[in-house]
Amino acid sequence: MAQIKLDIFRFDEATDTVPHRDIVEVDIPETTTVLDALEYAKAEVDGSISFRRSCRSAICGSCSMNINGVTGLACKTPCNTVMDDEGVVKVDPMPNFQPMKDMVVHMDPFWDKYARLKPYLQAKDKDSDHATERRVSPEDMKKLVDVANCIMCATCYALCPVVSVDPAFAGPAAIAYAYRFIEDVRDAKRTERIAQISEDYLWLCAHCYACSYCPKHVDPNDRIIDVKRAAINDKVMLDERGPRHALVVAKTIKQTGMLAETEVILGTVGRFNVRGLLKVTPLALRMVARGKLTPVEMAVGGTAPMLGLASMKPIPKVNEVRTIFESLEVPV
Ligand code: SF4
Ligand code: SF4
Ligand code: FES
Repeated sequence: MAQIKLDIFRFDEATDTVPHRDIVEVDIPETTTVLDALEYAKAEVDGSISFRRSCRSAICGSCSMNINGVTGLACKTPCNTVMDDEGVVKVDPMPNFQPMKDMVVHMDPFWDKYARLKPYLQAKDKDSDHATERRVSPEDMKKLVDVANCIMCATCYALCPVVSVDPAFAGPAAIAYAYRFIEDVRDAKRTERIAQISEDYLWLCAHCYACSYCPKHVDPNDRIIDVKRAAINDKVMLDERGPRHALVVAKTIKQTGMLAETEVILGTVGRFNVRGLLKVTPLALRMVARGKLTPVEMAVGGTAPMLGLASMKPIPKVNEVRTIFESLEVPV
């Protein structure tokens, strides 16, 4: 047995204006999960401690919370893997969510983004038109198996820095789930689904990999790359800033072997977008200050970009860079 000190975030939106913390000491085996430690504290010490849970087996997705600074499933986290030298386990609600009561948060923004996907199969005809079930080959199913393991725990959403600065961003779980239907050969709404998730700011993802910490190994970050690739291959909503930026970055690297920054700015903003170009003038000035652009180039809008990439000299081993691009099948 070990004495574990649960340092618990306490807040009730019905009565409190600011949160406080309670320390609850429990004598339990140190291999007890954080969820069971909280259950023990609730049953034996303070029945008002609030948190969501159901399965205790990492399958319902209810118990995600912040544990010693890292968001994860409380039912999958033994205390001895997270407690500090003094036996403290600190629990907080998931970041990126409004707390309701203790570790219970308002999940509406997460569910709303998920609902916008129409997360159900939309086939081109009715089930009744089929004499048998709709069959999918093992090869086609393989693509969907991992993402179908998502338990909607919102851990990835809580970890996403883009959600924290731009709440309109769909977030990793919704994009991963969009992939689940985009790549389903039985679904007839592939283009509409790509357009919908693009409208929900697919291209804001910064590929920071924070969401790769997923308790069910869905790897939302990799699925986001797959959805972006589908958008490019299917040419869906490519005239937006995000895809334009991705394409011009790839193009400059492939053609010159380096990141041609002035070309990237013009390609992203739009060569004839005067208002947009005025907005990036401070950035151009900083580039001049750091020697990435000469004052003359800036004055004429960047000589090399004005003349196009053809005017730029590739690096000596540019063919090696091109070989890497081809091996990655980057569509430019
Ligand atoms: S992708 Fe993973 S972390 Fe995100 S909601 Fe699904 S199971 Fe949870
Ligand atoms: S990879 Fe994208 S979706 Fe995932 S946490 Fe980073 S910004 Fe968010
Ligand atoms: S209680 Fe169901 S996932 Fe933790």
